[in-house]
Amino acid sequence: MKIIRSESDFAHVADFQATIPEFASCCDDPHDILFRGDHFGGVVLEARVDNHCAGVLFGYPTRAHTWYNHITAVVPKFRGCGVGSALLDAFAQEATQAGATTLFVKSKNCFPSMIRLLVKKEYAIIGMEKEKILFEKIL
Ligand SMILES: CC(C)(COP(=O)(O)OP(=O)(O)OC[C@H]1O[C@@H](n2cnc3c(N)ncnc32)[C@H](O)[C@@H]1OP(=O)(O)O)[C@@H](O)C(=O)NCCC(=O)NCCS
Repeated sequence: MKIIRSESDFAHVADFQATIPEFASCCDDPHDILFRGDHFGGVVLEARVDNHCAGVLFGYPTRAHTWYNHITAVVPKFRGCGVGSALLDAFAQEATQAGATTLFVKSKNCFPSMIRLLVKKEYAIIGMEKEKILFEKIL
């Protein structure tokens, strides 16, 4: 597996998210992704396995020294072999290199694999926002 990074391929994020079953009823607005990517200086991390796109993470800096992981998703047939974990690691590395000290993610009970992964990666639950669970990791 290799991770490719881009600072401009935000349209790819929306196209990819639309193929992920769990996001069928809660896809982000593609224009919102483009705006956030451009406005905040976001990054797209793409995991490639055997020349296929296996997973994508889209994130950007928000508050000072904090990077927000907005979308993480892995194609179902590539799950359970470390792609999601590698994307989170690459995001932490990216944020660290940019001077971040904190990572921030929101998830929900309907994404149990992500919740398990975040806990394994030592993200702490720091609160709730309606049905969303707020996770933070101090780097
Ligand atoms: C959450 C998600 C990104 C995880 O991606 P993934 O590539 O399956 O993640 P990993 O492979 O790193 O870890 C998943 C599981 O595989 C296990 N695993 C990882 N590498 C492994 C290996 N080499 N051998 C056996 N098991 C392995 C992990 O321990 C983990 O197990 P667990 O779920 O029982 O705790 C993916 O399930 C997904 O896209 N879900 C839908 C979208 C979503 O929920 N996004 C987040 C919204 S907030």
